[in-house]
Amino acid sequence: MGKSSDFFGRDIVSIRDFKRDQLDRLFQSVENLEKSPNSLDGVLKGKLAALLFFEPSTRTYSSFQIAAINTGMQVTGFSSPAASSVSKGETLHDTIRMFEGYGADCFVIRHPMPGAARFAAETTDKPVINAGDGSREHPTQAMTDLFAIRKAFGKLDGLSVGILGDLKYGRTASSLAYALSNYDVEMTFIAPEALQMRLEVAQYLKQRGITPRSERDLKSVIGGLDVLYVTRIQKERIPDPTEFEKVKGLYQVNLESLKEAKASLKVLHPLPRVDELAAELDATNYQDYFVQAAAGLPLRMVLMSLVMGGAS
Ligand code: NCD
Repeated sequence: MGKSSDFFGRDIVSIRDFKRDQLDRLFQSVENLEKSPNSLDGVLKGKLAALLFFEPSTRTYSSFQIAAINTGMQVTGFSSPAASSVSKGETLHDTIRMFEGYGADCFVIRHPMPGAARFAAETTDKPVINAGDGSREHPTQAMTDLFAIRKAFGKLDGLSVGILGDLKYGRTASSLAYALSNYDVEMTFIAPEALQMRLEVAQYLKQRGITPRSERDLKSVIGGLDVLYVTRIQKERIPDPTEFEKVKGLYQVNLESLKEAKASLKVLHPLPRVDELAAELDATNYQDYFVQAAAGLPLRMVLMSLVMGGAS
């Protein structure tokens, strides 16, 4: 794909900016990388990636960092706001301009404000990859999620996917729903009343002719699902602590709740988990969340290579 690819020089701000054939080609390239794991080694040598994380992160930060290093880039930036001048009040704009001055060739940005990645993309001509903006979007997680499902089932079309948990504040849930709308997938949203999917997501899906099933609890739908995507309650994004108290502990996925599930069911979770996903699932065939987390690395290697023009 390289420089002629749909991804070259592009910002990855919203998963909605990508069509099915582009996503499928991306997934094919990730499969190829998994078959020849060294094929992208050093392709981005001489380039500098600025990883600017204005919110704490473990998986996303380290997978981007390792992806950048594996493809030959140098890495700069910070993995949490506490470790930067953000704690002194420096703005996103100034931070980007400064790293541009240091020669950054691309930016990977995580920020608590919805729209921050779009703003960053308008601030710099270098490609910006959104690593999560508030409760809005997390496009590279959605790409990873789709890739993991495809890996488990060999396809996406025809599957029944349940998205469970905090659909209101969780950016991975909305990005996944947007991404799945490119495929012939039956979507079910499972959330307590207070954590239902945001209206803007439902409206987007409706425009694409999709009306997901909406349920309050897992029990009534579990038997029909191929994939159950579990998310944690986004405590830090719920504006009022008394609201959090009302929803805390409202759902937990464990062996008991999967009693009626298909034997082939795969459980995904973007991680970190708190109490919504029981550790007793880790050793079962349902567990796909660690496979999913691992898939984030080759996916981000391919994505960075395509965006930066290093993939062949
Ligand atoms: C998610 C995130 O940051 O949105 N984590 C991740 O990137 N894998 C999910 C979460 O924090 O709940």
